[in-house]
Amino acid sequence: MHSPATPSGLIGVFDSGVGGLSVLRALRARLPGTPLLYLADSGYAPYGDRTVEDVAQRSALVIEHLLQQGACMVVIACNTATTLAIGDLRARWPQLPIVGVEPGVKPAVLHTRNGRIGVLATRRTIASERLQRLLQDHAAACEVTLQACPGLVDAIESGMLDEEGMFGLLGEFCGPLKAAQVDTVVLGCTHYPFVADTIQRWMGPDVLLVDTADAVAERTAAVWQGIATAPGGPGSTRLQTTGDPIVLSRLAARWLGMEQPAERVSL
Ligand code: DGL
Repeated sequence: MHSPATPSGLIGVFDSGVGGLSVLRALRARLPGTPLLYLADSGYAPYGDRTVEDVAQRSALVIEHLLQQGACMVVIACNTATTLAIGDLRARWPQLPIVGVEPGVKPAVLHTRNGRIGVLATRRTIASERLQRLLQDHAAACEVTLQACPGLVDAIESGMLDEEGMFGLLGEFCGPLKAAQVDTVVLGCTHYPFVADTIQRWMGPDVLLVDTADAVAERTAAVWQGIATAPGGPGSTRLQTTGDPIVLSRLAARWLGMEQPAERVSL
């Protein structure tokens, strides 16, 4: 039976793929003495094109795996899985602290000067009730342009596009936000911070891009303090993937400066 106070426990972090590395980066900075296990479900990415049932089922399988590996807390480093499944997952594991990541609508509303906000996210997140509720609760007074980005997660996962190729793909998604003259853009998918420079090129230097990775790390640290009974040691991060371990290792090295190789797991 899972115990949330397991002294030697670790924090399990997962995403549909490599995007959650943006959250992992913030967690490693905020909790340097904490063992972390990152699982990229790249064999089943993108979640944004899957059914709600599929995403819930994959997320549950991943959490079961993380618990078997010693997780006593889970961070869902994926907007799509959080949006579609966090309620069910919390109901299934009521003792397990689960922190999710959501599009940063609230910080965007606090920042905007002209009241025009753009949200970039996967199709599923854009179409979700949860995002609608976030907008109703916090952005009722703003003009919000929602933009789904089909194909973008695949392009980031594969790493096949060079800077100009990525610039071309992003034009399709940034164009409507430029036309709406937004001054703030929510990066509503954890893959997107890795192409933030290219999004910024499209939107111009005066537009703020909102990424919630630091806020998620702060929340995680607060919850972790309440349950961790072991003093922080040197800390270590393990990387696992249901896809190609070479891809995860390469991107973790490039984006986070990590040197350890990723392991492949089957779930
Ligand atoms: N990084 C995931 C997110 O934050 C991408 C989901 C997908 O695989 O479509 O939504």
